[in-house]
Amino acid sequence: MFDKRLLKEMPNARPYIFKQVFCQWIALLMNILFTLLICFLFIHLYENQITMQMIINVLISMLILLVIRALVLKKVTHYSYLGASVVKKTLRQRVFEKVLDLGNHYQDYVRTSELVQLSVEGINQLETYFSLYVPQLFYSVLAPLTLFIITAFWDWKSAVLLFICVPLIPISIVLVQKFAKRLLAKYWNSYTTLGDSFLENLQGLTTLKIYQSDGYKQQQMNQEAENFRRVTMRVLIMQLNSISVMDIVAYGGAGLGSFLAIFHYQHQTLSLFGALFIVLMSFEFFIPLRQLGSFFHIAMNGIAASEKIFKILDLPVEKQGHLKMDSHFDICLDHLSFQYEEDRPILKDVSLKVQPHQFIGIVGESGSGKSTIAKLIMGYHHYQQGNLWIQGKQRYDIDDQNFMEHVMYVTHDPMIFKGTLRDCLDIFHQYRDEELWQVLKKVHLDLFFQEQDGLKTFLLEGGSNLSGGQKQRLNLARALLKNSDLYIFDEATSNIDVESEEQILKVIQELSKTKTVIFITHHLKTVKDCDCIYVMDKGCLSESGTHVELFNTGGIYHKMYQKQQELEVYGCE
Ligand SMILES: Nc1ncnc2c1ncn2[C@@H]1O[C@H](COP(=O)(O)OP(=O)(O)OP(=O)(O)O)[C@@H](O)[C@H]1O
Ligand SMILES: [Mg+2]
Repeated sequence: MFDKRLLKEMPNARPYIFKQVFCQWIALLMNILFTLLICFLFIHLYENQITMQMIINVLISMLILLVIRALVLKKVTHYSYLGASVVKKTLRQRVFEKVLDLGNHYQDYVRTSELVQLSVEGINQLETYFSLYVPQLFYSVLAPLTLFIITAFWDWKSAVLLFICVPLIPISIVLVQKFAKRLLAKYWNSYTTLGDSFLENLQGLTTLKIYQSDGYKQQQMNQEAENFRRVTMRVLIMQLNSISVMDIVAYGGAGLGSFLAIFHYQHQTLSLFGALFIVLMSFEFFIPLRQLGSFFHIAMNGIAASEKIFKILDLPVEKQGHLKMDSHFDICLDHLSFQYEEDRPILKDVSLKVQPHQFIGIVGESGSGKSTIAKLIMGYHHYQQGNLWIQGKQRYDIDDQNFMEHVMYVTHDPMIFKGTLRDCLDIFHQYRDEELWQVLKKVHLDLFFQEQDGLKTFLLEGGSNLSGGQKQRLNLARALLKNSDLYIFDEATSNIDVESEEQILKVIQELSKTKTVIFITHHLKTVKDCDCIYVMDKGCLSESGTHVELFNTGGIYHKMYQKQQELEVYGCE
């Protein structure tokens, strides 16, 4: 019924909860006074002792009470809103910060679609928990207690009976809670699974259409939607049923209390005033808890979502390094082994060196572990065995922020943000127009954008109005603009035509005279001029040397090179 952790984690929401309960309590007191005035009026009417002045005084008092009640209830809504906004803001910020702490590999732990659903819908459900349910829970204890003390003043037996019946409502809530918890966990799983499939299928709709499997996927999604509908209906049935149970308890309890009061009046152990007051107030004992019951299901939904949110917030963040590095650094992989999953080694005892201002090539068949080496250097994953030294310091001891200032990682799948070309190239608006055109020229995009709107050319989300090659070239231009000490190019020219690729390679070679460059590629011709080429084979470093050395050794590199040349000749014929 009550999640201590949620309240502990949200200290900012507590003052609003307290103020809300206090205002509700004042409204209850106004209600009690109002009922007392009704009883007073009724008794005097009944006994024919009423005067005009009396009626006017009572009506004015009632009006004042109603105004005060309306004002405090308005305050309740106001505090409820403030509490909810604090909770939403704090939780969303914490989830966001956690994802940042987890770093680029947060997807290893949590799916993006689940993250989006929990941050939007899940946190909205928690808003109800904090702004309605928790204040109502405290009020539901305070209100019957206040009413008990006041009614006991007239007839303690009726007061005790009403007070005893009140806990029957929370007991019925607790009984359904066990069942509700399981059902709501199912509901959330079904909801996030459906959201996940929906996002994936929508993003991959073109691919599905090409493979004519959109119909099949539709059927699968229909099934998932049907499961979700069923579990939603079960949740609704459970909610309606439990509300009916609470109604029976509330009306039954109020009836019993009223009956006892009337009985005592008949036996002249209670005045008419007292009996009337108890009858009018008896249902008031149950209203707060009945209201709590109707918030309960939304709150349970919020708690189910919060369990998932806390699972994300509790994810262990790998140890952050704090050492700083300077711009002149070497990289050394020393008997390095790594695996993403248990018992599936990806890198096996790899040792290689990258000296400052060297032009290094890493080649090998697909899946041989080239990108994994780049990701380990970038610090996306922690290696299990061996060492990765950067300027004599373990990679994981180096502060990531500081590392990123010195390194540029360019992949084949660039992130292009929606906005103008200028915004995309120069996020912090720190370069002059000439500098931007200079890099665009280097990657052969100057003419293309000049024909359009120049630096104001609008790029759609993900660069969807650019070709694959244009996106890669734009990504290269952005990388060249940032003055880094180490550039890692991972298949960064894979979509670019041969002619442009040669020109871009020249730019990269020029870059390697003043910077360190690691060039990962399948295309062996592009690494011919490297100072050293490392050849990966099934997670092991099989060969290393210059192009000439490797070619003359007659090993894997030689075979791969010859094969590629044969294919090129064949392609030209
Ligand atoms: N996040 C991951 N989780 C589990 N396994 C992974 C993950 N990323 C890569 N792998 C596995 O690690 C192996 C090496 O992948 P890697 O991306 O390093 O290869 P690569 O040499 O860069 O290949 P390519 O030339 O195709 O880009 C592959 O067998 C792949 O299945
Ligand atoms: Mg790769």
